[in-house]
Amino acid sequence: MTGGAGFIGSNLLLHLVPRHPEVVFVNLDKLTYAGNLANLRAIETAPNYHFVQGDIGDLEALHALFDEHRFTTVIHLAAESHVDRSILDPLAFARTNVMGTMALLEAARRHWTDGGDYRFYHVSTDEVFGSLGDEGSFSETTPYDPRSPYSASKAASDHFVRAYHHTYRLPVVLSNCSNNYGPYQFPEKLIPLFILNALHGKPVPVYGQGKNVRDWLYVEDHAEAIETILLHGETGATYAIGGDSERPNIELVRLLLDLVDELTGSPAGTSQRLITYVTDRAGHDFRYAMDHARLTEALGWKPRHTLETGLRRTVDWYLANQDWLAAVVDKSYLEYYTRQYHGR
Ligand code: NAD
Ligand code: TYD
Repeated sequence: MTGGAGFIGSNLLLHLVPRHPEVVFVNLDKLTYAGNLANLRAIETAPNYHFVQGDIGDLEALHALFDEHRFTTVIHLAAESHVDRSILDPLAFARTNVMGTMALLEAARRHWTDGGDYRFYHVSTDEVFGSLGDEGSFSETTPYDPRSPYSASKAASDHFVRAYHHTYRLPVVLSNCSNNYGPYQFPEKLIPLFILNALHGKPVPVYGQGKNVRDWLYVEDHAEAIETILLHGETGATYAIGGDSERPNIELVRLLLDLVDELTGSPAGTSQRLITYVTDRAGHDFRYAMDHARLTEALGWKPRHTLETGLRRTVDWYLANQDWLAAVVDKSYLEYYTRQYHGR
């Protein structure tokens, strides 16, 4: 697995490692600001888990790892993942998401030459499809229309994964998923950032008018979807994954802040006073929604959590893990980010 120390990767390893003791997992992660080994404490001494610090763009190191471990499966999550950062530094996104994915594809292609039972699973996003109006949803057949440097880099990586399947018969499978939330998410994305700010009585910056719509999926549901597709998905296929939980940002934020008040025992309405409307994100996609009918019909997966149950678990987790939050917050970055985006 690549990117196993990040948000989704660590939740996925915590899910898979104890459930598949016969499989040896090697977690290759560069440990950027978003990677955190503390997420993996529960499995770090498991006999079927190893960590390797490294960059997916380092092809020589990848060859050495493939030689050493004889991987049969790659689950590729390593990426630069935050849209706002991609606006500030698009080249970093091209380097890791495009060139890094290509290096991984090259390593797999060079090593998987004996006709064995191999699989390259590429984890991607619904953002590659662009932006929806008020109606409709994305599915596996929606044409690509990426509009941020992040989504453009993920779209490019998806295309290369499919090109390696078409050209070299590399046994790939892909999924494109909507916005995840849950434990261990770095507090730059909306939900953990707003929990963090609310806990400190700091303003929560809602971009534009808060009318943009996202579809939210609890990260454990995503981990189960990935496991299902990895084990049973059709080679060469793509699966759309969604949470059936669309909300305009402002509605989500109100729900979230009310939960923070309830679970911290603060008077109702306390955190809502922190809502601050700020300048909109450049090129802000209006709406995402995913139709996961293919995955549900073919492989029987559907999300277990509603937005309400998932958010409650998430706020509970951040309240119980404030040490984790404090440790990951790089104050200089958050200050820089706040100045860039909100002029404060
Ligand atoms: P994240 O930013 O939390 O974690 C990314 C991980 O990749 C970190 O551990 C980081 O150290 C590692 N990494 C970054 N660059 C690397 C490099 N060059 N070499 C090796 N490791 C590197 O991201 P996430 O939210 O967990 O997302 C994981 C994957 O899922 C990404 O590919 C992302 O595009 C995709 N995805 C995310 C969401 C979401 O809502 N978070 C939704 C759909 C798809
Ligand atoms: P984010 O968590 O960054 O995910 P993505 O951009 O990949 O969807 O943002 C989710 C939504 O919340 C998006 O419409 C942008 C908005 N947003 C804010 O209004 N304020 C914020 O501080 C952040 C980080 C996001």
